[in-house]
Amino acid sequence: MDSIIVRGGAELRGQIPIAGAKNACLALMPATLLSEEPLTLTNAPRLSDICTMTQLLESLGAEVSSMQGGKVIAMSTHDLGSTRADYEIVRKMRASNLVLGPLLARAHEAVVSLPGGCAIGARPMDIHIEALEALGAQIELKDGYLHAVARGGLKGGRVKLRFASVGATENVLMAATLAKGTTLIENAAREPEIVDLARCLRAMGAQIEGEGSSTIEVQGVDRLHGATHQVVTDRIELGTYMLAPAFTGGEVECLGGKLELIGAFVEKLDMAGIDVTETEAGLKVKLRGDRPRAVDVITEPFPGFPTDLQAQMMAMLCTAQGTSRLEEKIFENRFMHAPELVRMGARIEVHGGHATVTGVDKLKGAQVMATDLRASVSLILAGLAAEGETVVNRVYHLDRGYEHVEDKLGAVGARIERVSA
Ligand code: EPZ
Repeated sequence: MDSIIVRGGAELRGQIPIAGAKNACLALMPATLLSEEPLTLTNAPRLSDICTMTQLLESLGAEVSSMQGGKVIAMSTHDLGSTRADYEIVRKMRASNLVLGPLLARAHEAVVSLPGGCAIGARPMDIHIEALEALGAQIELKDGYLHAVARGGLKGGRVKLRFASVGATENVLMAATLAKGTTLIENAAREPEIVDLARCLRAMGAQIEGEGSSTIEVQGVDRLHGATHQVVTDRIELGTYMLAPAFTGGEVECLGGKLELIGAFVEKLDMAGIDVTETEAGLKVKLRGDRPRAVDVITEPFPGFPTDLQAQMMAMLCTAQGTSRLEEKIFENRFMHAPELVRMGARIEVHGGHATVTGVDKLKGAQVMATDLRASVSLILAGLAAEGETVVNRVYHLDRGYEHVEDKLGAVGARIERVSA
């Protein structure tokens, strides 16, 4: 099992290319199930989660090939060989549940394993189920699998999401493209990944309006055709690397970065004393003073502060001037990185969904354990600022969502290496 060793104290300078978005690509790939014609994605990220989604789609009958070192994914589902998403694949990656809507829309049936629990929360699928039932699906849970049928096909309807769930919005949006009649999705999620999915579906011939707002209207069509779509930039990878200079000093330019992808996050960076400037190629970031300032953060659905940047922000606030308060409102168990940061000398108190971080002058390197994807990268960032050596174990979590982190950070001056045990 790989670990990553970080020797702190090196200033960062240079450019970091930002990849296509994991969370967009994981929703875009199942769209191939909606059409008999080829769907090609460009600017795709090279990540283990993308390989898992490929495995899942192939198990359903899709042909998937990747080119240009994995940056281009060509898919075609001329014939659906199966409508069953097996537990053995789904347990590896929750986003597998995004095949439910497309399978129901195309084949009028689907058997999809429930993903089960996850380190950051219970993450049920009740909102997905309610939304698809509003389009006429009948769904029952049997032996850990959702058995769904839509006799005669899905029918357009009014869907009001109890919570602006990203996954439920993606599932019902894809399902509604082939439903008979009009679907209105209210309290829809507004994340850039939803906008990217709607753009791709429209390129396939879908009739969609309102993506990016809380109300999306979809006019069902009989069939969708092929298309080529460029995956949007990964705003979470972007935010992660934008924080790096706050740990080390120096200046980094994130290539492909765009302000509109991370509005609320940039406001917090400014309050913490971190300058962000737009360049032709992306976003340039540097610390104003010699130490960040404390800020309070509450995670919310887009356009609020993203929960997927909470761990990285907490790590940054560990050496900030003053005391910061963080509230995690999206997931019920997303402070697993806190005790690991405390091992590095941080001062953090956690009470349920609230955490208080009192900045210290210096962190100290230590052996730490990654518990989930974003927690793992927060420990690497903390290692950049720490005295001595930090060893981050279980980095398989990291490879699910970050392409070659040690190469990208190493290229701008970090002393970082991957070791295999
Ligand atoms: C997506 O997960 C992302 N994953 C997550 O990123 C991200 O943290 C999350 O959206 C929020 O932004 C992908 O896109 C693959 P939700 P998703 O449905 O769709 C509750 C990362 O680090 N809920 O918006 O699963 C749920 O339990 C990952 O890249 C229900 O109660 O998120 C959670 O508390 C982690 N019932 C909240 O809503 C449901 O049916 C938000 O979940 C659905 C969700």
